[in-house]
Amino acid sequence: MTASEIFPVPAELAASAHVNAARYQELYDRSLSDPEGYWGEVGQRLDWIKPYTEVKSTSFSGDVKIRWYEDGTLNVSANCLDRHLATRGDQVAILWEPDSPETPHRAITYREMHGEVCRLANVLKARGVKRGDRVTIYLPMIPEAAYAMLACARIGAVHSVVFGGFSPEALAGRIEDCGSACVITSDEGLRGGKPVPLKANADQALSTHAATAHVHTVLVVRHTGGKVEMTPGRDVWYDEECAKVAADCPPEEMSAEDPLFILYTSGSTGKPKGVLHSSGGYLVYAALTHELVFDYRPGEVYWCTADVGWVTGHSYIVYGPLANGATSLMFEGVPTYPDASRFWQAIDKHQVNIFYTAPTAIRALMREGDSPVTSTSRASLRLLGSVGEPINPEAWLWYHRVVGDGRCPIVDTWWQTETGGILISPLPGAMALKPGSATKPFFGIKPVIVDAEGVPLEGEAEGNLCIAESWPGQMRTIYGDHKRFVETYFSTYKGMYFTGDGCRRDADGYYWITGRVDDVVNVSGHRMGTAEVESALVAHPKVAEAAVVGYPHDIKGQGIYAYVTLMEGEEGSDALRAELAKWVRQEIGPIAVPDLLQFAPGLPKTRSGKIMRRILRKIAENDYANLGDISTLADPAVVQSLIDNRQNR
Ligand code: PRX
Repeated sequence: MTASEIFPVPAELAASAHVNAARYQELYDRSLSDPEGYWGEVGQRLDWIKPYTEVKSTSFSGDVKIRWYEDGTLNVSANCLDRHLATRGDQVAILWEPDSPETPHRAITYREMHGEVCRLANVLKARGVKRGDRVTIYLPMIPEAAYAMLACARIGAVHSVVFGGFSPEALAGRIEDCGSACVITSDEGLRGGKPVPLKANADQALSTHAATAHVHTVLVVRHTGGKVEMTPGRDVWYDEECAKVAADCPPEEMSAEDPLFILYTSGSTGKPKGVLHSSGGYLVYAALTHELVFDYRPGEVYWCTADVGWVTGHSYIVYGPLANGATSLMFEGVPTYPDASRFWQAIDKHQVNIFYTAPTAIRALMREGDSPVTSTSRASLRLLGSVGEPINPEAWLWYHRVVGDGRCPIVDTWWQTETGGILISPLPGAMALKPGSATKPFFGIKPVIVDAEGVPLEGEAEGNLCIAESWPGQMRTIYGDHKRFVETYFSTYKGMYFTGDGCRRDADGYYWITGRVDDVVNVSGHRMGTAEVESALVAHPKVAEAAVVGYPHDIKGQGIYAYVTLMEGEEGSDALRAELAKWVRQEIGPIAVPDLLQFAPGLPKTRSGKIMRRILRKIAENDYANLGDISTLADPAVVQSLIDNRQNR
């Protein structure tokens, strides 16, 4: 088996899948030539309170306006719950697998979940949360996280889920930015047997930031039973409040364009931005892609291992699967606890049919050898998926051969927080697979590869990836900063959405994502702006200046390499290195801690004072032969000194 091998569509799948090759071509062509007609029909998969008559109203120029199904009204939670009650009320909606295999799992039916969501919606209302208000959700991977999202949707509140791995500082910044008055958290989270002090973190965020003083309610889920402080008046227990209210809450009628959620993500400059998604278009797109990309069939058990703190958890654990009436497995733990067989044992335990994870997890598990996998059956598996970063062919082949026993196609799904759902991916009944390629665009998606000047390239080409036309799942704006939205995504290449990714198209029209072309790094599938890590470092009193770049890392995909110039009179040491790591952990979270940190008395700068990151990237990559022209530097000698003191892996 070689990386250049092509894996054809299995004949049985071509015959039974939702979409085969001929149908793909027919529908793809139609979706581009008649987007109104195509998306108008597809939108009918949802239950609308007032049906839409206008399908698409979008423009990528000027002020950039993106509206889908504009005059329709609906409720997202009713689409994910209520409408399934008559046909599959007793089917499991969420299968919850806890951190420890010793703890009993939970199976929550659609009917039970409807009751839970209604109660929580009533609690939110009783605490004064209204339509349009923002609610911050800072929870571990427990069913209450999904209840909280849907309870917000039910009353028209806008949720902002903050990943449980973010620090109090990062949480405070996100609460402040969207002005949320209510935080839903739990006593603690649990990951790999270790407690995560979520409530204590929330307390710290709220007590040290005056700008969060508007938070009137902290709702606390009892999860581990760990001891927490409760601030009278502000903090209430989730279970106690839910016991006081009715299990019925009529869904609010929302416009298709009303915001459903904000999700913060990193960019190449400044603070994380609040990506804002709509109600109608987002749900249509999440549901359709979930059904077609995973070829989901009624009754199947589907498992996406992402955290609900990331967009993958939003679209492909909660919204897409539940809108489709699927059984969605939610896993609290980590792939290597109690041992490297955890994923595969859980697949056998719950008879999982479709499994969706990230390349970083695959690489980490691949390192443990085949036996943790082959000691399990995995006979229930039918389809595998990958998301979050480019998957190297070696990891792809191992995933296919060992995890999928050579039987299961792999859908390598390329998308972003901003896109709301999958844009480029195989449809498993339609596309032959090439390891490492996300293959072809989904319906309605028109990828364009441009050169540095913005000239679209035809045929076989490599350049920057843009999308020429809108799709319903596209983000609508950056919360509170539409100007930044326009500048970030629509000003580099006029009239097109710029993804920030590099991409190659081969002779067969297959797309190969080559990674970010901006100052964003992708560490273990977690997106991080180098500027954010830099500003965390320079906030330390001993740091004068910092420059952060990504470098190739065997397991994480990319690692974080930091060059730090200290204040006059400060001395670099291992102790200071550890202090700075701790500092970044507090400012942002563990995922932002540099893997390698080099004390650099000088950084390579142009005469106008701009740091030449290209050179820093090359040094971090150990690629000294290709430093390029360094003659324009203010002090070219800096480069040799950086090379001499490079940190080793
Ligand atoms: O660089 C691409 C990479 O992840 C970025 C988006 O990160 P985020 O918004 O956190 O969303 C991740 C989950 C959708 C992209 O710009 N990326 C995501 N999926 C792939 C990928 N790179 C290559 N192949 C993929 N399948």
